[in-house]
Amino acid sequence: MAAQNNAPLPDGLEIAGYRIVKKIASGGFSIVYLAYDADGIAVAIKEYLPSALALRQPGELVPVISKPNLAVFRIGLKCFFEEGRALAKISHPNVVRVLNFFRGNETVYMVMAYESGHSLQEQIARLGQKGSRLNEAFIRQIFIGVCAGLREVHTSKLLHLDLKPANIYLRTDGTPIVLDFGAARQTFNADVPKLTPMYTPGFAPPDLYSKTAALGPWSDIYSLGASMFACMAASPPQAADQRKIEDKMPLYYSKLEANYSPELIKLVQWCLEMDPLARPQSLFTLQKELASTRKKTKAAPVGTEKLTGRWRELADKIGIGRKKAVNK
Ligand SMILES: Nc1ncnc2c1ncn2[C@@H]1O[C@H](COP(=O)(O)OP(=O)(O)OP(=O)(O)O)[C@@H](O)[C@H]1O
Ligand SMILES: [Mg+2]
Repeated sequence: MAAQNNAPLPDGLEIAGYRIVKKIASGGFSIVYLAYDADGIAVAIKEYLPSALALRQPGELVPVISKPNLAVFRIGLKCFFEEGRALAKISHPNVVRVLNFFRGNETVYMVMAYESGHSLQEQIARLGQKGSRLNEAFIRQIFIGVCAGLREVHTSKLLHLDLKPANIYLRTDGTPIVLDFGAARQTFNADVPKLTPMYTPGFAPPDLYSKTAALGPWSDIYSLGASMFACMAASPPQAADQRKIEDKMPLYYSKLEANYSPELIKLVQWCLEMDPLARPQSLFTLQKELASTRKKTKAAPVGTEKLTGRWRELADKIGIGRKKAVNK
């Protein structure tokens, strides 16, 4: 089942009342397009097209799925559809807004509100190239918003299970949105067929590697800790399966001390506990910790002073990266 490079839908195609403008991203499981609805409002349409299972040639609309792949393709399709349906019920400023979903070309499409911005991963990478890091006030602010959105997701009995900076999107006004619920297939009731979970090394909790461990809010909390760590270190934490063999994280935490408050480092450490019961058990706890220590800590003003252009504008809008804002 080698991964194939699938041809995107052609620009200008009309489908279910939407007009495709262009492809904006493609991953292993889907292709995302910018499109316009009948009123000319921009939407993002995500097409279910797992490249290991389905092949679409240039000029074709319907992908070819070989017989042996058909059953797995259909289970994934049902999950994608269910995920869309569950997400469509969630309306929260920090969760991507699902507007519609439809069938077509023998696959499924999820229509989302189009958000203009960039991923947190892009921001980490940009700063990392200059040897800079996100500052503490910014990290706290972003993750308070992410927790708020995820609380709503957990209330709907969904888990995300693939939280990482690449799936946290920042609007141009700096507010975060949680994206890509591709792995949110595991409901608390586990009444959907379980596909092989996807692991993103470093961000996946040890619970996901184990066949017997229960998944719950604590699993997403591990990934949130990992995402905060990635913001601070500009690289993911050690993968959970490797930590089981030799845990090098204590060394990495100590390297963060120069730029971040002990409170924030301890909080990240708490989220990244290998034992699920040793982590914060709810997002509310995490959110409260992020907010309550915000005023007490005097974060070192790292990185963002060097920002220019688009990033400077963003930093200005949300009031980060300047001494007065950081120490407020
Ligand atoms: N609602 C949206 N508005 C604007 N851009 C979006 C939206 N949803 C997704 N995108 C863009 O598409 C990219 C990929 O989206 P997403 O993370 O949902 O899919 P993916 O990682 O390709 O999924 P998979 O790994 O399941 O194939 C995002 O980083 C972002 O650039
Ligand atoms: Mg993604």
